[in-house]
Amino acid sequence: MTQKECFKISRLTWGSVDCQELAQRFGTPLYVFDTGIIRARCRELRETFLDRWENTRVRYAGKAFLIRAMAKLIADEGLGLDVVSLGELHTALSAGFPPERIEMNGNAKSHAEIESAVKNRVGRIIVDHPDELRTIQNYAEKAGIVQRVMIRVAPGVDAHTHKYIATGSTDSKFGVPADSREGSMLTEAIKFARECKNVDMRGLHFHVGSQLFDTDDYTKSVEVILRLMKELKDGFGFITRELNMGGGFGAVINPKIPAMKSEFYTDAMMKTLVEGCENYGLEIPRAILEPGRWIISEAGITLYTVENVRTLPEVTYIAVDGGMADNPRFALYQAEYNAVKVDDADGEIYRPENGGKVSIVGKCCESGDILIDDAEIQSVKAGDVIALFNTGAYTFSMSSSYNYLARPAVVFVENGEAKVVCERQSLDDLIRGQVI
Ligand code: LLP
Repeated sequence: MTQKECFKISRLTWGSVDCQELAQRFGTPLYVFDTGIIRARCRELRETFLDRWENTRVRYAGKAFLIRAMAKLIADEGLGLDVVSLGELHTALSAGFPPERIEMNGNAKSHAEIESAVKNRVGRIIVDHPDELRTIQNYAEKAGIVQRVMIRVAPGVDAHTHKYIATGSTDSKFGVPADSREGSMLTEAIKFARECKNVDMRGLHFHVGSQLFDTDDYTKSVEVILRLMKELKDGFGFITRELNMGGGFGAVINPKIPAMKSEFYTDAMMKTLVEGCENYGLEIPRAILEPGRWIISEAGITLYTVENVRTLPEVTYIAVDGGMADNPRFALYQAEYNAVKVDDADGEIYRPENGGKVSIVGKCCESGDILIDDAEIQSVKAGDVIALFNTGAYTFSMSSSYNYLARPAVVFVENGEAKVVCERQSLDDLIRGQVI
């Protein structure tokens, strides 16, 4: 069933499971993921990128959403995984994720993270700061291996997105500037890597931003990188054998609007890369992508129970049993969502008689604890269950226990079956490790 078809019946179903029943069975707030949608995204990437273009790889960005069951699903779909911390690496390895398909990113990697990545034989470490090279060399020498690495560069492209999730400008805290001049951070790092016997510098990495809806930011970045590849080859004899072009594909917030097609992005990127390599006389490097949000966001919804409704002159507040603790994205980025009442999903939208707006808010002790500021939703009362769409990415992974709210459970649904893959935190989980 497509997301759109879910609305034909006015009771919302997800993965062919009735959402009202999910709420009753597992409680709310509840993160619900349709694994059919996740698999379909993985397969779309296979068809439109991996099978269409030679020598390509996809590494799912685990920061968007990673639990052991997700790691297993991604492994089964044959994709790789991008991790950014000891915790993400541990989660992946504990699920049996093949280490050679893992790459480690991160702008401030600790020695322990580098040591673990090397010891566990991850496929690539993406060097973000040149100092990492010495640490990688030390651990790789101890382990008696040659560690494959790439170096992250900032192409100097200001992506069209919220400033907190734009990462490609030259003054970004990520990577080194795309500067091929003698003595630059980049060329010094490349020279130093050559002296490291246990380090194999395979190529370049960039990631300009997240939630991108046009291809300009990508094609401009690829053009900058192509010039850089040419200059590095001519000036230093450095051959870029691999190019990681990051993630960032946008996810639509309204489930009635068709999702972005992966080939919209990948065709533009790959055409620019292939043509550019021909023009510059460069060999086409292995092309790698790291999408997170596009794979997971639209597969996820969050179910909440309405606690109360209060109508004020300018605004009607619908307060639910979760909020910024399970989803801080409005508070951080003014992220937009859509919601429905799950047992009247196609019903008429409620318009307060006083003409005010409707806001869906959480239960945390902050006025900024908003889920949807100006919502279009059916009339609801205390006890009703509502669903927020497109909450699969960066919600569970950015959740907190603010106000000592327990983190909701995660349920995977597909073909009418539902399974808890991460339990709701208990009250004891909340005080674990505390001593008096
Ligand atoms: N690769 C690198 C190096 C990244 O930093 C990121 C995201 C990705 C790939 C995946 O980007 P995606 O395909 O998911 O857009 N918390 C924010 C998003 C932060 C993105 C951080 N980096 C949010 O909730 O919107």
